[in-house]
Amino acid sequence: MTVSIDHDLREAVSELRRRNVPSPSVALILGSGLGDFAKEISNGITISAEDLPGYPSSTVQGHAGRLIFGSVSDGSRSSPLLLVFQGRVHFYETADVDRTTATVRLAAALGVTRLLITNAAGGINRSFVPGDLMLMTDVMSLLPPSSRMIAGKQKLLEVFDRDLTMHLKESAREEEVALKEGTYCWLKGPSYETAAEIRMLGILGADAVGMSTVPELQTARALGMRCAGVSLISNMGTGILPSKLSHAEVTDTANRSSERFSHLIKSCLLRL
Ligand code: HPA
Repeated sequence: MTVSIDHDLREAVSELRRRNVPSPSVALILGSGLGDFAKEISNGITISAEDLPGYPSSTVQGHAGRLIFGSVSDGSRSSPLLLVFQGRVHFYETADVDRTTATVRLAAALGVTRLLITNAAGGINRSFVPGDLMLMTDVMSLLPPSSRMIAGKQKLLEVFDRDLTMHLKESAREEEVALKEGTYCWLKGPSYETAAEIRMLGILGADAVGMSTVPELQTARALGMRCAGVSLISNMGTGILPSKLSHAEVTDTANRSSERFSHLIKSCLLRL
C-alpha cells in the first residue's frame, strides 16, 4: 500500500529514512505517565521528536516526546515491529489539529496499519477507582470534528477494531489484570472539569474523560487503521471524591499502575 505523505511530515519522514529505521506495522501511543513502557522494547532505536524537522514536540510534563522503533519479546515470542510514541501533543497545546494528529499521520506514512492508543483519564463511572485500567469501547466528543479529522469523509461509526479489542481482553485474562470497560469523552482542556461538568458528562454516557485520543482516533480511522485503546483511570473526576485534583496525582497514579499497564500491553503486542 502506498500512502501519501502529508506536506508537514515530509522532512520528518526523510530524516527517519536517512536513519534507516525499520518499517513498523503497529503503533503504540503512550499517554500521560505511561511512558515507562518504552523500557520493554529491546534493541530499539530512539529518536527525539526535536530531531525530526517539522515534527511537533510536547510541552507537557510526563510526555517525553520520543519515538522508539523496535519490538517486545518474552524469549519465545516477539511482537511485530513497533513504533512507540512516548508522549503526544494535545490539542490544547497548540489548537492545531495537524500537530495533534502528527503521530498517527507519521505512523501511516511509515506503513503502520494497527494502532494501540492509551491515555490517562478522569473516572466518571462511580464503580471505577483510581488506578483502574479501562478498555475503551467507544468515544465521544463535545467538539466538532475538523477537516483533518474527517479527511476522506469516513464516518467514525465503528471506532475500535473487534480483533484488536479481543486481544486486549484476552491479554487481560491471561495476565490477571482487571480491565474495566467504558466510553471515553474528549474535552479540550487544559483545565480539569468542574463538578457540574463531570455530572453532565455522566448523564451523557461518558465513563471517563480526558484531553486526548479522539483526534488521533478520528484521523487513524480516516486513514484506515485498525484501532484499540486503554485508559488508565488516574483520578476520579472533579467532585466525585473530596480530594483536590492535580496533574501530579495523574502522573503519580500512572506511575504506580505502570507495571499492570505494561503487562497488559506487552501481552497484547505479543499476540499480534
Ligand atoms: N479530566 C480530564 N483529563 C484528565 C483527567 C481528568 O480528570 N485525568 C487525566 N486526564
